[in-house]
Amino acid sequence: MCGIVGIIGTSPVAGDLVDALKRLEYRGYDSAGIATLHEGKLARRRAKGKLKALETRLNGEPLAGNLGIGHTRWATHGKPTEVNAHPHISDGVSVVHNGIIENFKSLRSDLEKDGFVFETETDTEVIAHLIARELKANKSPQEAVRDSLGSLEGAFALAVIFEGHDDLMIGARRGSPFAIGFGDEDSPGMYIGSDAIALAPFTNKVSYLEDGDWVVLTGQGATIYNEKNEEIERSISTSMAQALVVDKGNHRHFMAKEIHEQPDVISRTLSHYIDLGKECVDFSSLSIDFKTLPRLSIAACGTAYYAGVVGKYLIEQWGGLPVDIDIASEFRYREPLMSEGGAALFISQSGETADSLASLKYCKQQNQKILSIVNVNESSIARESDDVLPTLAGPEIGVASTKAFTCQLTVLAALAIHIGRQRGVIDEAKESELVRSLVEVPRLISEVLAYEEEIDRISHSLSQARDVLYLGRGMSFPIAMEGALKLKEISYIHAEAYAAGELKHGPIALIDENMPVIVVAPEDRLFDKTISNMQEVAARGGQIIFISDATRESAGCDLAHHIVIPKCHEFVTALITAIPVQLLAYYTAVHMGTDVDQPRNLAKSVTVE
Ligand code: F6R
Repeated sequence: MCGIVGIIGTSPVAGDLVDALKRLEYRGYDSAGIATLHEGKLARRRAKGKLKALETRLNGEPLAGNLGIGHTRWATHGKPTEVNAHPHISDGVSVVHNGIIENFKSLRSDLEKDGFVFETETDTEVIAHLIARELKANKSPQEAVRDSLGSLEGAFALAVIFEGHDDLMIGARRGSPFAIGFGDEDSPGMYIGSDAIALAPFTNKVSYLEDGDWVVLTGQGATIYNEKNEEIERSISTSMAQALVVDKGNHRHFMAKEIHEQPDVISRTLSHYIDLGKECVDFSSLSIDFKTLPRLSIAACGTAYYAGVVGKYLIEQWGGLPVDIDIASEFRYREPLMSEGGAALFISQSGETADSLASLKYCKQQNQKILSIVNVNESSIARESDDVLPTLAGPEIGVASTKAFTCQLTVLAALAIHIGRQRGVIDEAKESELVRSLVEVPRLISEVLAYEEEIDRISHSLSQARDVLYLGRGMSFPIAMEGALKLKEISYIHAEAYAAGELKHGPIALIDENMPVIVVAPEDRLFDKTISNMQEVAARGGQIIFISDATRESAGCDLAHHIVIPKCHEFVTALITAIPVQLLAYYTAVHMGTDVDQPRNLAKSVTVE
């Protein structure tokens, strides 16, 4: 989703702004732009499409100026055109904005009545005009921004610069993340960005605005105000983003690199939650007592939701705790009834997903204890939680989630053991057995990765398909859903997933000899049931891709392909079967020549509804 950056430097900033925007590319965008101030004058360059287009533009028409703002836009209001690209300008005020101004229509008609002429279809343009109107009323830039913020409804992170003020930038945050970077001797100046990754080349001293805060920046520092306009201190921390390598290594895409990182990042995540010597889990930092907990509600979006579905199976079966699972965008509006003394768990790679955050806030109002599994420790969801369970996946740059997903599954599995022990559902011996099965996962995933070339070959046939069906039972059902989502989002092939038992209730009508059907069927207690459903597919000519540790013969029907996975404990099958569905989607997309890391229309961090 949109990314914002801003720099007050001591030398021309246009190049650094574009570099910072490159580090935000992973969030997804469809146009970009920057504006700078030089000798008091504002100038901007914008371009539709990728940052390369903006760079080409800047090569032809460079921008001078030691102060500037930049933006990658993921279109919400108005098409991804150059005119709609940020920064927007009104009477010497230039604005970049991430989020949605929900009352922009009424603000726009009000401003139009006052004679302001709109050039774009965006919600953001109202911000520039609002501030310009306040300036016309003889207010200072600080007063103009402060008073305009009061009129805005919705979620935003924004940065504003002003003609005639070569050493001033004002930022504000409500809902969307906003990081401030403090320069040093090597990189003098001040920086702002949607996250610390954008600022990593310049500084690791970072402060985060809280909801409702706004900040006045000069080259010398930052003065922060809270929503009551009181001056306030926000702590400065040392960001780890500089240490994190954000490149593709020897891989063609970030997604491939991240798929291959899974054995390492799962090991790292496991070592955070597991005492290997004692073969037990360690959640001693948690304040939640699961022994007396009546219910756990889980809410999340997309891939994180599928992790939550696996979590429900794990926590109910091995932890003995009833779990509700919801898609966060549904949860937040259906006003769910929450159990007294209950707890809610939010799963989010970014920790910024608007629907998950809103669901969290609802649960807080309902006096639920809040637990979250996040990959970004400084994120809004983490900061709003009573207990945070980090996934140690490192930055995930590919828009399609892979390593964050399996790290979420890892944390959920370890948590299920902890809950089972607290509730007396599993004993010490069972805990050791389950812990050992988890410790095996990185090695087993490496074994699946060794099948990569075979999966690459199989994907050739998938890339010819118009539709693909995924089937699975038990924990393989959410993996089937995750497989279908991965394929859709990066190859643009229509894919659907069904619980294998649902097949005969409708979707079987779709089966013919042109329909690839991917069956996720580890040899577990539901294997025979899944095999029966698979045979129903075979009887109707469906092209079966069988993902299983069982033999080809045990399928008992014709298979187009068999992807062999290693034998494993049923507790960890979801972690193993996740890998072939990721690889199938990845190679299919590669064969189709799509933009694997930044698929069309998608954003990494979904900070709007
Ligand atoms: C799909 C994908 C998305 C995210 C979803 C939630 O590959 O990545 O479906 O899982 O947008 O994002 P987070 O986990 O950041 O809350």
